[in-house]
Amino acid sequence: MSGSSALFKTDGEKVMQSSKIERSGLQIDVFPTREEASAAAADEVEALLRKKDSVNLGLATGSTPLPFYRELVRRHREEGLSFAQMEGFNLDEYEGLPPEHPESYDSFMQQQLYAHIDARESHLLPGIYQNAEEACRAYEEKIVEKGGLDWQLLGIGGNGHIGFNEPGSPVDSRTRRIELDERTRRDAVKQFGTLEKVPLAALTMGIGTILEAKRIVLMAWGAGKAGILQKALQGPVTAEVPASFLQTHGNVRILIDEEASQG
Ligand code: F6R
Repeated sequence: MSGSSALFKTDGEKVMQSSKIERSGLQIDVFPTREEASAAAADEVEALLRKKDSVNLGLATGSTPLPFYRELVRRHREEGLSFAQMEGFNLDEYEGLPPEHPESYDSFMQQQLYAHIDARESHLLPGIYQNAEEACRAYEEKIVEKGGLDWQLLGIGGNGHIGFNEPGSPVDSRTRRIELDERTRRDAVKQFGTLEKVPLAALTMGIGTILEAKRIVLMAWGAGKAGILQKALQGPVTAEVPASFLQTHGNVRILIDEEASQG
C-alpha cells in the first residue's frame, strides 16, 4: 500500500503509529489482515489466562469479533488453552429476543464461543425481562461482585456506537435500556431479513461501565469503518461519537486492518 493517504501507516509487519494518535493516548496497531489482528487480541487473552486465577472478559458480538472467537476456539482445540478460569460478560442484548432466538446475542455467543471452550461462566444481559432497570442494576452488581472487567473487547458501529451506546450517550452512562438508532437498525437488516424484524431497543453496558474495564481492545475491519474510526480516534471527544470517549481511558488498544486505516 502507498501509505500516503493512510491515517495509520504500516510497513509490512512493522506497526507504526501516527503522532496525532500517540497524543491521544491510544495504541493503534494496523495489521495486513483481520486474522492477524485477531491473533494479537487472542495473545492478550491468552496471556491473562496464563497469569491470573480469575479472568473477566467483556465480550462483543457482530461480524467484527468472528475471527477472534475462531482463534480462541482453535487455541483451545489445538493447543489445549484452557478457559476454565474465564467468565464472560457481554456488552448488550436485543430487547424482546429470548435466548434461543437465532439472532439473540446469547445464541451468537453459544455458537461462536461457549459451545467450543471450557469457560467457567457466561453472563449476558437478558432480552426478556420484567423490569429493565432491575436487570441492568443486577448486571452491574454482578460485574462488581466478580471483581470488575479485566479486558473488554469492542467493535464500532457505523455511527460510532460502542456496545449499543448510540450517539448522545453520556460518558458516565451505566448499563441501561436504549432505543436503537435508525442507522443501527438498518445495519442489522442483513441479520434479521427485514427492518420490521429488527428490535427497536436493547439493553447495553453504559459508556461509564465500559470505561471501568482495566484494558480495552477495539477491533475494526474494512474500508467501511475508516471514516468513523478517524472521527472516533482523531476527532473531538464527544457524545455524538461515543467511541471517542475511549481517548480518555489510558489503556486502550485499537486493532485494525489496512483497509480500515485508510481514512
Ligand atoms: C455488539 C456491539 C456493537 C458492534 C458494532 C459493530 O455486541 O456491541 O457495538 O460491535 O455494531 O458491529 P459489526 O462488528 O457487525 O460491524
